Amino acid sequence: MPPSTTRQWILNSKPTETPILTGPSPTFKLTTAPLPKTISRSQALLKTILLSNDPAQRTWIAPNVDPTRMYMPPIAEGAPMGSFALAEVIKSSSPTDLPVGKYSANEIAGLQAVTPIEGLDLGHYLGAFGFTGLTGYYGIKEVAKATKEDTVVVSGAAGATGSMVVQIAKKIIGCKRVIGIAGNDEKCCWVERLGADVCINYKKDTFEQDLIRETEGFVEVYFDNVGGGMLDLMLTRMKRHGRIAACGSISNYNTPDPVGVKNFFDVISNRLHIHGLIVLDYVHKFSDVVAELLQAWKEGKIIIDDSLQTVVEAKFEEVPAVWMKLFDGGNTGEVMYEDCGLATLWFCLV
Ligand SMILES: NC(=O)c1ccc[n+]([C@@H]2O[C@H](COP(=O)([O-])OP(=O)(O)OC[C@H]3O[C@@H](n4cnc5c(N)ncnc54)[C@H](OP(=O)(O)O)[C@@H]3O)[C@@H](O)[C@H]2O)c1
Repeated sequence: MPPSTTRQWILNSKPTETPILTGPSPTFKLTTAPLPKTISRSQALLKTILLSNDPAQRTWIAPNVDPTRMYMPPIAEGAPMGSFALAEVIKSSSPTDLPVGKYSANEIAGLQAVTPIEGLDLGHYLGAFGFTGLTGYYGIKEVAKATKEDTVVVSGAAGATGSMVVQIAKKIIGCKRVIGIAGNDEKCCWVERLGADVCINYKKDTFEQDLIRETEGFVEVYFDNVGGGMLDLMLTRMKRHGRIAACGSISNYNTPDPVGVKNFFDVISNRLHIHGLIVLDYVHKFSDVVAELLQAWKEGKIIIDDSLQTVVEAKFEEVPAVWMKLFDGGNTGEVMYEDCGLATLWFCLV
C-alpha cells in the first residue's frame, strides 16, 4: 500500500544569485503533501528511485524571466520543484502504455518506459542514455554537424553532457581532434581517457595560452556548455564558417548580471552559426539514439561505467544541497540522488 502523504521540495523563493539553502528565506522548503487516494486517467503513481540533478533546473527557477521566452513554463513560487527521475510504476491508469513494474517518471504522456539491461546500471537512463546523452548526440551531430575533418572543442567536458559529446565526437563520428575543457587536472585526465586528444584545465592561470596553443589554426566546431567568458574566448578561436552548438550557459546561472557575448564581431566576420538547441525538439529520435549508443557501448566504442555518474546517497532533506554540488564542480558525469525509499507521486516532473 502506498503511503497517504509524500514529501515535496517546494520552490519558496526564486534566487537572484546562488540559491540559498538555509536562513529565513531559503530557495526551497521541504513540505509534506497528501497523496490522492485515486489517480486520474492521465496519471501514474510512481515511487522515485533516482532523481536527476541538472544545471538546467536553475534556469527553471530564475526570477524575472519572460515565460514566452522560455522553452518550458518556469516553476512558480509555492509549486513543487521539478526534476527528471527514474521511478517504479506503483499504479498505472494506462497499463498497456505503462505497465506496473516498469521504470519511468512523470505524467503518463511525458513518461518513457525503460528496460533494464544486464551489465548496465539503470541510472545511465538518466545520463548517457537519458536526456544528457541525447543532448550531446543531437548537439554534436545535428546542430554542430561535426565531421571527421573537424577539430572540436567541448566545454564542461567532464560533465554529463560534455563527457558524451567527447565520446560521440571522437569514437562515433571520428572527428580529427577533440579538445575538452574541464575544471581540474583529474577531470581532464578522465576526459582524455574517454577519448579526447587533450583536455585543458580552465582554472589554471595558463588557460588562455593553453587554449590558444591547442587550437592553433583555429577550430571548426565548439560545443558550448558554459557560455560567458569561455564563449567569448572561444569565439576568437573559431575558423571562418565555424559552427557553435550553444547548449548551455552554466557560468551565468547564478549571476544577477549574466556576462554577454562580448566578441560578437567574430560571429559576424567569420559567418559563424551559433545554433541554439533544446533537446526536447529531438525527443522523437530518442529510441533510435539510445539504440545507437547502446550498440556503440556493446562494441566497446564508448565507455559507460560508474565513472559517468555520481550517485549520492542522501536523505530527501538533502536534495537541494546535493543539487548545489553541480555548481562547484563536485561531479563527473550525471549526478543522481538515491532515494531513501519513500513513495512519491510526481504530478509534474519536467
Ligand atoms: N540545451 C539543452 O537542451 C540542454 C540539455 C541538457 C543540458 N544543457 C546544458 O548543458 C550544460 C551541461 O549540463 P549537464 O547536465 O551536462 O551538467 P554537468 O556538466 O554534468 O554539471 C555541471 C558542470 O559544469 C561545470 N561548471 C560549473 N560552473 C561552471 C563555470 N562557472 N564555468 C565553467 N564550468 C562550470 C562543472 O564542472 P568543472 O569542474 O569542469 O567546472 C560542473 O561539474 C549546462 O549548461 C546545461 O544547462 C542543455
